[in-house]
Amino acid sequence: MHLLIPAAGSGKRMGSSQNKLLLNVLGQPLLSWTVKAALASQSIEWIGILGQPYDFPAFEALLAPLHSPKPVQLITGGETRQQSVFNGMQALPQQAKFVLIHDGARCLATPDLFDRCTEALQHCQGLIAAMPVKDTIKIVNADGWITDTPDRQNLWGAQTPQGFDVALLKACHEKGKQEGWEVTDDAALLEKCGQSVKIVPGEDTNLKITTPVDLAIAEFILGQRLA
Ligand code: CTP
Ligand code: MG
Repeated sequence: MHLLIPAAGSGKRMGSSQNKLLLNVLGQPLLSWTVKAALASQSIEWIGILGQPYDFPAFEALLAPLHSPKPVQLITGGETRQQSVFNGMQALPQQAKFVLIHDGARCLATPDLFDRCTEALQHCQGLIAAMPVKDTIKIVNADGWITDTPDRQNLWGAQTPQGFDVALLKACHEKGKQEGWEVTDDAALLEKCGQSVKIVPGEDTNLKITTPVDLAIAEFILGQRLA
């Protein structure tokens, strides 16, 4: 399985001056933990990391000590996550028929989750890891008034990995670009193109590290796993 890791963001919500994926988590850059989980997954055979070129020296420095037996390629990302994944799709090796996309910011995903997504891709053309939401979700208008409360039973929180047939995801990205769609995950492009996307049970701990409290939680969880 080929894996793309979008890592070309800046981490505005983290409030740090550098890419949040380079912040220290238990003595290592956050992105190291993500890559280590992917390397430990039996099914992943190739990794492409989307980054901004100014971060490449730091990415190379964090990759070196991992001594990856699998090819790891740095690919120039774009201005948005969507553009970064678009670039990654162009850079996939020709033989890639399926691809997993996994956010660099989800450093707590386990190797088993990558393997379960790989296995599930044998039975569909698009899937995402997801978990039922815990909070009641409100739809709120621009003035701060609630306009609706969707039934929580039908609500799932999208995670990554997300997995796709390569030709299909490329076509949906092309369509999205033509139509000017702006989406925050790849599944949404398939949905807009009328394609079916399946849910794979994600992991409760598979947080996207977004704000400073998430960093503290990640350190706690990773520390527990090492203990
Ligand atoms: N990402 C990317 N290219 C971008 C923007 C984001 O590859 N132009 C990546 C991030 O590096 C991250 C993942 O997409 O691994 C999920 O994005 P998010 O959590 O929003 O990260 P940032 O965009 O860096 O954070 P923020 O939105 O707070 O600025
Ligand atoms: Mg972002």
